[in-house]
Amino acid sequence: MTVDTTSLNQERNFFTTGQTLWLFGYGSLIWKAEFPFHERRPAHIVGWARRFWQGSHDHRGTPEEPGRVATLVESPGAICQGMAYRIDADTLGPLDIREKNGYLRERVVLHFHDGSHAEGLIYLATEGNAAFLGDAPLEEMARQIATAHGPSGANRDYLLQLAEALEHLGAEDSHVFGLAARVRSIKEA
Ligand code: BEZ
Repeated sequence: MTVDTTSLNQERNFFTTGQTLWLFGYGSLIWKAEFPFHERRPAHIVGWARRFWQGSHDHRGTPEEPGRVATLVESPGAICQGMAYRIDADTLGPLDIREKNGYLRERVVLHFHDGSHAEGLIYLATEGNAAFLGDAPLEEMARQIATAHGPSGANRDYLLQLAEALEHLGAEDSHVFGLAARVRSIKEA
């Protein structure tokens, strides 16, 4: 199931044109920043939990066998660690196209390690989008991730690269680390 959010996102201009803005990456953007940026800083957002609840029919899976990729769900008190990039507004154009399968630009407050904060953007796939898969038993999600492949590569590589990047950041994420442990054991079986 796909829904093209490119044109919706191009109307979601929350920041003044000509200024730089902060983009917060919580998934592949943590380790795969294939776009120009002025600086990057580890950061976190509050009240959001990372979950492998978004279907990927275009990058890490296919329409017949979708993969699972990260989105965020509201979770009071939760902390989601990631990487913030200060970018030019026009850098969002190609990202809108890359992340067109259900993700919409949303505003969030980013917290940096030095205690400062700033308003920024995330790409968010909510329950209402056509590619949303939602929760499932850990074993079921792990098996789906362990076997799905798409034009951007194996779904398990996406998960394991994210787990590794989070470990490097010193981040806590029992959902990602639990899935990664299970997927590693399926791969090794
Ligand atoms: C992220 O890394 O933040 C991200 C990447 C793709 C889609 C949504 C979010």
